[in-house]
Amino acid sequence: MLSPFLLLHSPISIPQNPKPAINFSPKSELRVERGLEFETGESFFRHESAAGRDLGVLAASLYRKSKGKLRVLDALCGCGIRSLRYLVEAEADFVLANDGNDEDRRVICGNLSRVPRGSGDERRWMVTHFEANRVMTECYLQRDFFDLIDVDSFGSDSSFLRSAMNALRLDGLLYVTSTDGFSSGGHRPYHSLAAYGAYVRPMPYSNEIGLRMLIGGAVREASVLGYRVTPLFSYYSYHGPVFRVMLRMNRGKLQDNRHYGFISYCAHCGNSKAFSCDQLGQIGCPCSDSKSIIVSGPLWTGPLHEASYLTELLNLAEEWGWAGTGTETALEKLLKQMLDESDPCLPFGFIKLDEVASRAKVNSPPLRLIMDTIRKEGYAVSRSHISYNALKTNCPMTECIRIAKELQQCDSAAIVDSAAIVNL
Ligand SMILES: C[S@@+](CC[C@H](N)C(=O)[O-])C[C@H]1O[C@@H](n2cnc3c(N)ncnc32)[C@H](O)[C@@H]1O
Ligand SMILES: [Zn+2]
Repeated sequence: MLSPFLLLHSPISIPQNPKPAINFSPKSELRVERGLEFETGESFFRHESAAGRDLGVLAASLYRKSKGKLRVLDALCGCGIRSLRYLVEAEADFVLANDGNDEDRRVICGNLSRVPRGSGDERRWMVTHFEANRVMTECYLQRDFFDLIDVDSFGSDSSFLRSAMNALRLDGLLYVTSTDGFSSGGHRPYHSLAAYGAYVRPMPYSNEIGLRMLIGGAVREASVLGYRVTPLFSYYSYHGPVFRVMLRMNRGKLQDNRHYGFISYCAHCGNSKAFSCDQLGQIGCPCSDSKSIIVSGPLWTGPLHEASYLTELLNLAEEWGWAGTGTETALEKLLKQMLDESDPCLPFGFIKLDEVASRAKVNSPPLRLIMDTIRKEGYAVSRSHISYNALKTNCPMTECIRIAKELQQCDSAAIVDSAAIVNL
């Protein structure tokens, strides 16, 4: 059922044109993504965001398969590529494609016209040009709820969170974005405090903090409305940078202090620790150099992904030939890395090998070797999809340093032995 508001008022242009200052597609281009042809027009389009779109479409399709229906609101649709993919690949029953810039209308409608529009209750898609908060609030007021809302916004615009949650069906999916690398890097703590309620300071795993800041902001916003959100997957991409999180929203508040708190990093010894809100007065480090402790929060301290959900995404990707074809695809590698880092024994954050090497005063050991050794010593360890040369582990920094030193000694001994053999 389409809201009378949308039927009466669309299309209409919003008063202020929120067209971004940077336009990545000055000329219209014909492109192909996952076999679908579309035009970019003058809209903001990044082909590097294809993985984020793949993940969104896989999640949408899983939802459609389990619930038997799918209505999507693509609140900042750009040229409409996501809307097109939700319609064709996820077989959405209806997609509302909205973008504040009405100059993109021809391109969006042209792209979506690859799917017959339909009419009445059979209508498959509609294009509007409202300010995103307005369209979502109108849908909420009309009790026109959606199963998946995609908010592909710029910067740290958290104002969309509440209106999106209001327009989302319970048990629905909310796909949110932040592109604010300055805030996650701890360079604008009062900005992150205003946007996400988190005072964020520079930390070695700042790109993971960006995801946790976004999830934490959503958790807080949801709890105001009497809902709780949990991350199904969290994806960082250095293009942008872009922080994306798929959240499932249900009724009920988050249990007290559960996965929402503070994170400390000790610049002296390199250890990190999470503290719940009721431990605020106890923040410290076993090395007892409390002056070196950097604290950020409150933010999400729990798992970034739900492992069983990632397995379902991976299985569907295989079914669609996006993975499991013999040669590992980038999407497959990403999903597998996310699965590895979903081990419940792994804490938040990651340790960069360069930091271990510099603290141990040795050359950086090969990642695979140090991971194997850490595992043999009984710790949990995985790579991080966020940082290439880093590991997620519950092995304390002091132990990582010892292991790196021992590996260097073994390496030196092996060189001496092979030199001796050559001299024989
Ligand atoms: C990152 S782009 C969207 C890209 C698109 N989702 C994709 O995957 O290619 C963000 C879009 O939001 C639109 N926009 C920015 N602020 C808006 C607002 N407040 N309300 C509605 N649309 C807005 C811009 O015109 C732009 O097209
Ligand atoms: Zn310390």
